[in-house]
Amino acid sequence: MNILILGSGGREHALAWAVKQNPKCDRLIVAPGNAGIASVAECAALDVMDGGAVCEFAASQSIDFVIIGPEAPLAAGVADRLRDAGILCFGPSAAAAQLEASKAFTKEICDASGAPTAGYARFTDATEAKAYIKAEGAPIVIKADGLAAGKGVVVAMELQEALDAVDDMLGGAFGEAGAEVVIEEFMEGEEASFFILSDGTNILPVGTAQDHKRAYDGDEGPNTGGMGAYSPAPVMTEAVTEKALREIVQPTVDEMAKRGMPYQGVLYAGFMIKDGQPRLVEYNVRFGDPECQVLMMRLGAQALDVMLACAEGRLDQAQVNWADDHAITVVMAAQGYPGSYEKGSRIGGLDHLPEDSKNMVFHAGTSLQDDHVVATGGRVLNVTARGDSLAEARDRAYAMVDGIDWPEGFNRTDIGWRALP
Ligand code: AMP
Ligand code: GLY
Repeated sequence: MNILILGSGGREHALAWAVKQNPKCDRLIVAPGNAGIASVAECAALDVMDGGAVCEFAASQSIDFVIIGPEAPLAAGVADRLRDAGILCFGPSAAAAQLEASKAFTKEICDASGAPTAGYARFTDATEAKAYIKAEGAPIVIKADGLAAGKGVVVAMELQEALDAVDDMLGGAFGEAGAEVVIEEFMEGEEASFFILSDGTNILPVGTAQDHKRAYDGDEGPNTGGMGAYSPAPVMTEAVTEKALREIVQPTVDEMAKRGMPYQGVLYAGFMIKDGQPRLVEYNVRFGDPECQVLMMRLGAQALDVMLACAEGRLDQAQVNWADDHAITVVMAAQGYPGSYEKGSRIGGLDHLPEDSKNMVFHAGTSLQDDHVVATGGRVLNVTARGDSLAEARDRAYAMVDGIDWPEGFNRTDIGWRALP
């Protein structure tokens, strides 16, 4: 079959790498793609936010299946357009994508389905919001309702920080996304991410992972999109996983179906786990980036089979054959990230690295200039490895990092620390 993947990050490189290994895949196009993706797929220039253009392109290339990577085209209704045009597609409708696009919507779904999550209140008025914060006290969490590129959450340890966040958000710092704020109870515990496919009715777990959101070693420094990840997440024990599916995930999928907006695609659930009890922190409607890289490393070719089963509504017949393995990915970012950084520096050493079923460098922000790979983003490379143990995977990944010659980049040296002795 002919397959089109939308996106241009490390997540989409990992998806393309896994999909390409499946004999069902005849032709693979990624739009717009990047320098790394170009080594496993054809790259095509296409505005992935333009549903009409995506449908036209898919029809012109006889595409049988479209996989949508990022949240923005999902929230913009690109999956709806494809389904209306009769093109098989992996990714939720715009209505279902509200689970990521609106924090207030997700809270409503939790209320209606009884899923455990942080207590909360919603405000559009700053004076009322601040009165509530003063009554509740710190620590407390302030969130812009809408999509804010991962920057719309302030975990305030001090009262003043919470009050300032309200002024910022309702004052227009995030535009429309901050026209309403959700103020949440601060939850303690350990975080983990859980990825579950849903065809609208049936669910199929496809793995757990833990991300490292802070820029520097020891979980210091500013928040980022993620500086590394590993899978599985030990905190997601069998008992916690079973509880999460029964109390949170399945009730969410059932509630969405009841509302006439069945959830079709991958549900990325962020949990806070304390004393064996998971509570929902947030949903995303796509694979995590860089969590997808470790999941794809472990799933390999079967990733396509389960995404197809998901899109075709037959997840009840699908399964994942898990190896007893571990994967880790180390993000190499441009110096200065997540603040301002230079673009265009050359990256050397990539040609000499092993690339096989246990070692892969997924490209996030790169392009080719005169046959050289150059950095074009903040997060640039995802150095990814698999092993029988997390320690083995970690050692292999960092050996690859050592082989990459990129003085303008940096990486954390402690990815996986929480799960390693
Ligand atoms: P979100 O964008 O909702 O995932 O929030 C970003 C991060 O803020 C999460 O990964 C958590 O580390 C933290 N966070 C969000 N909500 C809460 C909460 N209610 N209690 C504690 N930490 C939170
Ligand atoms: N790594 C976090 C995310 O994809 O949202």
